[in-house]
Amino acid sequence: MGHRVIGVDVNPAKVEMMESGRSPIVEASMNDLVAEGARSCRLHATVDSADAVLKSDVSFVCVGTPSLRNGKLDLSHIEKVAREIGLALKQKQSRHTLVLRSTVLPGTTESVVLPILERESGRRAGADFTVAYNPEFMREGSAVADFLQPPYTILGAQDPSHLAPLRELYKQTPGRVFESTIGVAEMAKYFSNAFHAVKVAFANEVGTLCKHLNVDAQAVTEIFTSDTRLNISRAYLSPGFAFGGSCLPKDVRALTYKAKELDLNLPMLESLLPSNSEHVERGVDAVVRTGKRRIAQLGLSFKAGTDDLRESPQVQLVKRLLGEGYEVRVWDEDVSLGRLAGSNRQYIEEVIPHIGSLLTDDLEELLKWGEVVIIGNKSANKDKLQQLRPEQIVIDLVNLDKAIRPQGVRSYEGICW
Ligand SMILES: NC(=O)c1ccc[n+]([C@@H]2O[C@H](COP(=O)([O-])OP(=O)(O)OC[C@H]3O[C@@H](n4cnc5c(N)ncnc54)[C@H](O)[C@@H]3O)[C@@H](O)[C@H]2O)c1
Repeated sequence: MGHRVIGVDVNPAKVEMMESGRSPIVEASMNDLVAEGARSCRLHATVDSADAVLKSDVSFVCVGTPSLRNGKLDLSHIEKVAREIGLALKQKQSRHTLVLRSTVLPGTTESVVLPILERESGRRAGADFTVAYNPEFMREGSAVADFLQPPYTILGAQDPSHLAPLRELYKQTPGRVFESTIGVAEMAKYFSNAFHAVKVAFANEVGTLCKHLNVDAQAVTEIFTSDTRLNISRAYLSPGFAFGGSCLPKDVRALTYKAKELDLNLPMLESLLPSNSEHVERGVDAVVRTGKRRIAQLGLSFKAGTDDLRESPQVQLVKRLLGEGYEVRVWDEDVSLGRLAGSNRQYIEEVIPHIGSLLTDDLEELLKWGEVVIIGNKSANKDKLQQLRPEQIVIDLVNLDKAIRPQGVRSYEGICW
C-alpha cells in the first residue's frame, strides 16, 4: 500500500530472511511481496524493537498468544513486547500508536498492555501515546488475499479520536469498518472463532450421524446451506433466552437418543439440552440476585404470537421460581386467548394447573404489582411498559428493541447481554 514497514522479531533467522528479501513463512504471494518490499527499500527487519519504535509512527503487535498447559492464555510475549515498546516510548518525542493485533481476551489490552506501557514509559495513555485493538481475520494459507479482502475491519479504542491514524491506514481497505470499544473488538475475534469451531463440530457430528443412518451428508448439507433466511443467517444468533417449543427440544432429544442407540459419541449435540437448562437457571439466578419477592412475568409461551406451552422455557422458569418460594404472576395475551378459545385449556388444566392459576389478563395491574418484571417474550407493548416505576427491576430475557424498552427504569438487564 506504499507504507514503509519495519518487521521486528526475536528470531534472528526470520529477521535475516526478511532483510534479504525472502519470506520467513510459506504463504501464497508472500515471497513476491517480501522481495518487492526489500527491493524498493520499503521493508526492513530487525531484532531491535526500540529502534523500530523510534523510526515509526504505529506499532502493530502480533506476537503469539499460545495456550499454557491448563488452557490459560499465555501473555508472556505480549507483556515482553509491551515492556520493550514502553521503554522505547520514554525516549520518543513524537506521538506513537500501539495497535494490538494478537488474539487476547477482553480486558487484556486495557488491564495488561496499557499499564505496562505507562509504567515503562512514564507517560500517559491517551495523552502521550495511544493504544488500539484491531483483531486479525486472516487465515493461514490465504492471509494475503484475506488481508486485501477482509470481511470487515474492527477498530477498538478508549476514545474514537485515538483511531485517526488507523482510519487513515485502512481507508483503501474494502469492507465495513466498525469502530468500537476495545472490549468489543477483543471479543469479536473470540465470538467468530468459537462460532467457526461450533460450525465444524456441528457439521462433523451431524455428518457422522448421517453416515451411520446411510444418509448422504453432503446432499443434506447442500440443502441446509441453501437456506439463508434461517440457517446461514443471523437468525437465532441473538443472545437472549433458552429455546423451547414443540420442536427443538424434542428433535434434539430424538437425535441424541438415536446416536446412543448407534453407539455414537456426539458430545456437542448432547450438550445442547443441558446448555439450555443452564440458561433457565441463569434466569432464576438473576431473580434471586434482586432480593425481591413479587415477580411479574410477561410471556409464558416460548415465543410471542403462539399459545403453545409445550416445553416452554418460560414455563420452566415460573416453575423454578415457584419452587424457590417466589410470588409469581403471569401475563400472556396469546395464552389467555388460547385458554378462552379452549385450544390450550386442556394443557393448562391438566399439565400445569398451578401455573394456569397465576395467569392474569390485567397487564396494567400486574405491572403495578411486580417488584421484578421479567420480559419473557416480545409481546409486551411499548405504551404499557412505560408505566413502570424507576425502582422496579426489569429482567429482559429477549433483548427487546431499544425503542420499545421502558424509559426511566433504573435496573434493566438481560441474562446474557
Ligand atoms: N495465524 C493466524 O492465521 C492468525 C489469525 C488471526 C489472529 N492470529 C493471532 O495472531 C497472533 C500471532 O499468531 P501467529 O500464528 O502469527 O504466531 P507465531 O507464533 O507464528 O508468530 C509470532 C512471532 O512473534 C515473534 N515474537 C515472539 N516474541 C517476540 C518479541 N518479544 N518481539 C518480537 N517478536 C516476537 C515470534 O518469534 C514469532 O515469529 C496470535 O495471538 C494469534 O492468535 C493468528
